[in-house]
Amino acid sequence: MLDKINDLLEEVKEFDAKTIEEAEAFRIKMLSKKGTIPALFQDFKSVAPEERKEVGKKLNELKQAASEKVNTVKKRIAAAEDSRKTAGDKPDMTIPANFDPIGSRHPLSVIRNRINSIFQRIGFVISEGPEIEDDWHNFSALNFPEEHPARDMQDTFFVNKNPDIALRTHTSSVQVRVMETQQPPIRTISPGRVFRNEAISARAHCIFHQVEGLYIDEKVSFADMKQTLLFFAREMFGEQTDIRLRPSFFPFTEPSAEMDVSCSLCGSKGCTVCKYSGWIEIMGCGMVDPNVLENCGIDSKKYSGYAFGMGIERIAMISYQINDLRMFFENDLRFLKQFESASPH
Ligand code: DAH
Repeated sequence: MLDKINDLLEEVKEFDAKTIEEAEAFRIKMLSKKGTIPALFQDFKSVAPEERKEVGKKLNELKQAASEKVNTVKKRIAAAEDSRKTAGDKPDMTIPANFDPIGSRHPLSVIRNRINSIFQRIGFVISEGPEIEDDWHNFSALNFPEEHPARDMQDTFFVNKNPDIALRTHTSSVQVRVMETQQPPIRTISPGRVFRNEAISARAHCIFHQVEGLYIDEKVSFADMKQTLLFFAREMFGEQTDIRLRPSFFPFTEPSAEMDVSCSLCGSKGCTVCKYSGWIEIMGCGMVDPNVLENCGIDSKKYSGYAFGMGIERIAMISYQINDLRMFFENDLRFLKQFESASPH
C-alpha cells in the first residue's frame, strides 16, 4: 500500500492542467467519494496494526497534497483567464505603437502648389476647366487657323470628329472659358492635365501638366508681363535668377515670346542641364491677340493683357534635376519616397 501511495504522491506532484475542466477531472479522479484516495482510506482498515501509523500519515499527506494541487492549479488558470479578459477590454499601453508609414506628395503636386502660391500671393486666382474640350475652346477661339498642324490627328487625341471633341492639348483652353464668363480685370492661373498624341520618351509624354496664366485689364503692357514673370522666376528658382525673352510665335498671342531663366545649377557658367548655354527655356508667353479677346467677348479697344503657359514637368525636372520625364508617371516608390521631405507648398 505504501508503494501505491508513493506513486500517487508522485503523480500529484507532476500534475498540471491547462483548463479548469482538466483540473476538475483530476480532482474527481483522486478526491471524489468514488475516487482513488477515499478508496485507499477504505483499504486502510485492512492494514496491519504495526504499519498503520506510517501508512496513515502518508495517506493524509497524499490527500492534502492532492487537494492543494487542485486548488493552486485552478487558481492559476482562473487568474490567467481574468487577465486575458481585462486585456481585451482595455488597451495595453505597454505594447509598442504600430508604425503607420505616411505618404508624401507627388513631386508634380509639390511644384504645382509652389507655382500656384507664388501667383496667388500677387493676386492671381485659380481657375480650372474640363479635360475634354470642344474645338472652339481648345483651338478656334485661340486663333488657330483651320489648317493649323496642332489640330492634326498626330497631335490631338480626338474623342469625336464633327463636331470635334478632343482631350485638351493645352491649358490655354481655360483662358477662353474664363474670358467668356468674366469681364476684366482678370488675373488667373489654371493648372491642369493636358494630352498630346506623342511618342513617350525621356523628354515627352502623352499626358503632362501645364500652368496657364492670364492677366487682362486696361493698359496692360509687355513690361507688366516681363516684371511679373521675373518675379515668378526669382521666387521659383532663387533671387539671383535672370530672365531672357526670345521672339516666338503662338496663334493666340502677339507679340509672342519664349522665356528662359538663367541656369541656377551652374550659375550660368554652363552645365549639362542648360546644355552649356547658361539658359533654360521654361515657358511661352505674349500679349493676348486682340482676335482672342474679341472671340471671348472682351473689348480689345479698351482692354489688353498678357498670357503665359509652362509645363509643370519641366519646372520639376529643373528644380530636382530629374532627367527622365517618365519617372513622374511610373509611381515607383523608390523615386517618390525621395520627395517625402519636400515642402507641400
Ligand atoms: N499653350 C502653349 C503650349 O501648350 C503654351 C503657351 C504659350 C501658353 C504662350 C500661353 C502663351 O498662354 O501666351 O505650348
